[in-house]
Amino acid sequence: MKSKALIELLSDGKVHSGESLAATLGVSRTAIWKQIRRAMNEGAEIATIRGRGYQLVSRVDLLDRAAILGGIAAESRQELSLTVLDEVDSTNAEVVRQIAAGTSGIPVVIADCQTAGRGRRGRVWQSPRGENLYLSMGLTFHGGFGVLDGLSLALGVAVANALERLGVPDIGLKWPNDVFLPDGKLGGILVELQGELEEGVVQVIAGIGLNVHMSRVEGVDQPWSSLARARPDVDWSRNQVGSAIIDAVLDVVSLFSDVGFADFREPWQRRDIFMGRPLQARGGEVEGVGCGIDDAGNYQIRTPSGVVPVRAGEISLRAVS
Ligand code: BTN
Repeated sequence: MKSKALIELLSDGKVHSGESLAATLGVSRTAIWKQIRRAMNEGAEIATIRGRGYQLVSRVDLLDRAAILGGIAAESRQELSLTVLDEVDSTNAEVVRQIAAGTSGIPVVIADCQTAGRGRRGRVWQSPRGENLYLSMGLTFHGGFGVLDGLSLALGVAVANALERLGVPDIGLKWPNDVFLPDGKLGGILVELQGELEEGVVQVIAGIGLNVHMSRVEGVDQPWSSLARARPDVDWSRNQVGSAIIDAVLDVVSLFSDVGFADFREPWQRRDIFMGRPLQARGGEVEGVGCGIDDAGNYQIRTPSGVVPVRAGEISLRAVS
């Protein structure tokens, strides 16, 4: 947000005169007026109170690097290289750039908005400014690509753990990478593999998009939900949600590096929204009932001729209504 400093000043909800805002920010009153217009174009609701000044009427939930770091467990904090951006093409792409530039520590990027947010299967991830969480982490694993089986599902468990700790009820996981609430999709995870850095050392970019405040969006073709919808009684902070997710991902990655997917099968399956539901895959070639995942994280459909495993990326899984 170009007018972030102004919004920060207004975020106490009080009326501020143009003169005092100009003095604090060291700019002219005309510049303040221009910033007010820009902030309003970017979605902020600011009332002009005649003869008194400006008052922010809409909610603001600004990203704050120090607040995000402060919410992360102390022992993890020093391992991270956290960048908080006003705007970026894609936080996943930014992590790739940071790795190429030789960033030390685990690169983590959070942005207020994305201009080219990526979803799975080449889809666009709508990323409106100020509304949601767009977060990516660069994770390193040893043992070659073979050790990554089930990683994206384990990351789903991490996100569910974080949200449950924050008091969100009824979190479900939809194979392979979606986070669900009963009324629709809450978030998604995009795992992108980088090449092998050196023999057996693989780098993975884990991108997490989570609807926090979003109340309307264009171009989304399925039911969606948000944290604000699930718990309207909570004053949601993207900083707090970001810290909780980073912490949970680091916990999961540490366990996953030690034991692989084995320990995540049960916690994933417990939240499986397809369990026991009639499903079809491969364009209707496979029909049956969802019966969870196997040890490698493939989805299983119980058909009259036996259990058929379905691999991620191969097909899409659809509930039969
Ligand atoms: C999905 O299709 O469900 C996965 C969506 C993943 C979106 C996130 S937002 C942060 C990161 N940056 C991106 O460009 N995509 C991921």
